[in-house]
Amino acid sequence: MIGRVDGTRISITGLGSYAPERVLTNHELAQMVDTSHEWIVERTGIRERRIARPDEAMTDLALPAARQALEQAQVDPASVDLVIVATVTPDTMFPTTSALLADALGASDAAAYDLLAGCTGFMYAVAQAYGMLAGGLSRRALVVGGDVLSKIINWRDRRTCVLFGDGAGAVVLDRVDGGGFVGFELGADGAGGIHLSLPGGGSRTPTTAETIEQEKHFVQMNGPEVFRFATRVLVSSAEKLLAECGRSIDEVDVYVPHQANVRIIDHAARKLGVPEEKVVINVDRYGNTSSGSIPLALADAAADGRLRPGALVLMTGMGAGLTWGSSLIEWTDGVAA
Ligand code: COA
Repeated sequence: MIGRVDGTRISITGLGSYAPERVLTNHELAQMVDTSHEWIVERTGIRERRIARPDEAMTDLALPAARQALEQAQVDPASVDLVIVATVTPDTMFPTTSALLADALGASDAAAYDLLAGCTGFMYAVAQAYGMLAGGLSRRALVVGGDVLSKIINWRDRRTCVLFGDGAGAVVLDRVDGGGFVGFELGADGAGGIHLSLPGGGSRTPTTAETIEQEKHFVQMNGPEVFRFATRVLVSSAEKLLAECGRSIDEVDVYVPHQANVRIIDHAARKLGVPEEKVVINVDRYGNTSSGSIPLALADAAADGRLRPGALVLMTGMGAGLTWGSSLIEWTDGVAA
């Protein structure tokens, strides 16, 4: 799916993020599995990640991020009529995290649902919220991207456990007078889905004592295959979207790629021709937080003063499905129309 925005201008008017307090370093991981700080840094760029407490679930990460986004947008939570939470680690399959979040916020008139698109979830959710606002169904949307992957990672598997972390980000979407979203490109390749999966617990393989023994309730990944996919789609998705929107890569002021691995990000930036100073990187501090990755990186860019009004921001995500998605936005000063 690809589309260039025309007509109604819609933008991000509030941004928030939250990561659990507990920092897990590479050195600690080296005590848990056969790995080393040096290997992890060289192959991934990751130095540490945040890990949720045993009693912390997705809603507990989403709530502070959402409150911060709503405060920044200076809007009453009750005025939000759409809540989408992109996550593969909801508190429970149902009730959904979005419904629990809407209730905790006091958004009692909101439609609320969770969205599953792997690490691309935030890009899919923002595109959906854009469509709901542009189509006139929603007046104000709250989109959260986040995951608590630490709960579905096999902490004895060094091929996966060193990569991931927990975190969430939230944005408020509103109509604005100018600027805002320019276009979206989203895609999926189910044939490649096998390379990054959570095989147990669904209707194909319901949880049994046997599936638990076989560790099917943990993330399974073919790292090199996902690496090849990631380097390909981060480039192709961004290039397609820029062409559709009639923009060149030189016009992009801030590039926010999915934070999976510094080598993947460097490869994409080089191929696209984005200079280093325009690339947002925080995977060194958070690891791969799945749907939380792009909004957490946006929050970092905002804190650094890089998201000034008028800046053209290119975001591209990729992940399980396999899925990918890009969006271009002209950053606005946060004031709703
Ligand atoms: N510590 C030390 N050694 C490790 C290790 C670890 N944590 N994980 C794997 N290895 C070993 C492997 O067992 C292998 O050893 P062998 O050659 O003796 O078999 C060796 O390192 C190379 O493994 P390989 O998987 O080929 O390494 P790689 O260079 O492809 O790096 C990843 C592995 C996972 C870092 C890389 O493939 C990657 O980042 N893939 C994308 C993952 C991703 O982004 N997933 C989420 C998408 S949303």
